[in-house]
Amino acid sequence: MPDSQAGEELMALDNAPFHLSSVESVRQVVAGLEGSYLDPGRRLTELTPDEHLAGNARLFTAGGSLARDFWADTALGSRIQGTSTQTATPLEMVDLCSMTCNTVLGVNDPWVKLRQAAFLLSSQPHYLPARIGSDLHHRVAHRILSRLSRFGAPGGFAINLRQCNGSDAVELALHAAWLAARGAPRRRRLATFQGGYHGESVLASLVCEDDPGYGAGRALVDRVDNVVHFPSPRGGDGGHLSAEALATLDALERDGEEYFAVLIEPIQWRNSVHAVPLEFLRRLRDVCTRKSICLVFDEVQNAFGYTGTIFFAESSDVCPDIVATGKALTSGHGALAIVVARREFAETEAPFGSKTNSGDMLSFVAVDAVMDRLTGMLPEEFETLPTWLPPGLVGDLRNGLLGIAYPRVVGMLEDFLADLQRRFPSVVGPASGAGLMRGVAMLGQDGRPSGAMAGKVADICLKHGVYVRRAGHCVYIKPSLSTTEADFELARARLAATFEEVLQRVAREEAK
Ligand SMILES: Cc1ncc(COP(=O)(O)O)c(C=O)c1O
Repeated sequence: MPDSQAGEELMALDNAPFHLSSVESVRQVVAGLEGSYLDPGRRLTELTPDEHLAGNARLFTAGGSLARDFWADTALGSRIQGTSTQTATPLEMVDLCSMTCNTVLGVNDPWVKLRQAAFLLSSQPHYLPARIGSDLHHRVAHRILSRLSRFGAPGGFAINLRQCNGSDAVELALHAAWLAARGAPRRRRLATFQGGYHGESVLASLVCEDDPGYGAGRALVDRVDNVVHFPSPRGGDGGHLSAEALATLDALERDGEEYFAVLIEPIQWRNSVHAVPLEFLRRLRDVCTRKSICLVFDEVQNAFGYTGTIFFAESSDVCPDIVATGKALTSGHGALAIVVARREFAETEAPFGSKTNSGDMLSFVAVDAVMDRLTGMLPEEFETLPTWLPPGLVGDLRNGLLGIAYPRVVGMLEDFLADLQRRFPSVVGPASGAGLMRGVAMLGQDGRPSGAMAGKVADICLKHGVYVRRAGHCVYIKPSLSTTEADFELARARLAATFEEVLQRVAREEAK
């Protein structure tokens, strides 16, 4: 099939995701590997998923590192082909949580892979320690910082590109804010919010509100006494802020000289995907400016596409002093987290600021490629694309997915949630969140939001072939930009099967 014909076919599928290896020019390379040790389709062991899983308890530490629900073989976009470990049958999973909130472009994005493949074929170093620079670092720094250029004087922000996880970025942000306050010995308090989540490292978990299951059994210290957990900011009647939220602002106004930083997520996912009222963030920004408190946005969940922009400041017009982010930066093609800070909060001290694994250059290629995908390529670079790329991908690279795909997927998600609410009013309650970060409340038998019910649904749906997570009393749905109408349709049927099973179980329990 000629390349252009293949491309047109892909366009006809409404920009359906495709594997890089299906593009004719790449297929020729893959063909040269077939049957050899380097065959991309080669199995790596002779064991079946069941045989592997039987060894779980011997091989892995208990808890997070055990594979327990699903066994993946191949994946594309929002679909993962594998085996359900509960039923031991082959299953194609629909991933509605972008593989744990990470892969904003879906799985195996062809453009990120192609850029990484091109880099691997170059003679550039694949790894660089912190003291050795490269044009890739500078290019990525310029590109990311340009997103905030309208919020300050030229050069008003600086970036740290040397973190690996979101927890690292949060810690580094707090370290920088703490350091900036060293001339003011009274500024020793940190303000955070109930229901917030900032990561699993000791410091990041210490600043979260104590919550069994998130931070129980910490190392060295159980708690610190200079973190103030204010109530989660809520709206009240008539679109105004609640009395509690106003009291928080008053307290910060009154005691502002005692705080070195305020740490807040624009959308508190763990708190049943609660979107903090914009009015609160605006007023918080004002208080922090007046009182010289460093305002830190933890954007590990929402940045890089999930709310329609790279950073939250771009859509909200509320710009923090420091942004800490990670997750979607590379869309799962490498570990990288970053901190962007106003210059007055940009200083760090050894040994902080350069994690070893952030030397992986493929992660920087990935973040550059993710920027191409989300915002569109630079016009002069776009002109030099190879002619054999499928036109659907070329169109996306010209326009950027945030302009076209984002509103389309958000629209499909809205319809999807409304349909579930209509069909299962006894289980599916109100939706929360914003953009592609949505919670949908699960209702208990008393008709009230129920965390236990959300947990049950998140467990059972895996067996039915749809992946969502529990977040408080909600099921957390965070689809990638590659999610298609067909994905939502399949997920709808599978969630319906899940709700039916949950309702039957509840009825059986009631009958006992
Ligand atoms: C809001 C928020 N902050 C920080 C983190 C920590 O990120 P990581 O797991 O990459 O350390 C997470 C992780 O889920 C998060 O959701």
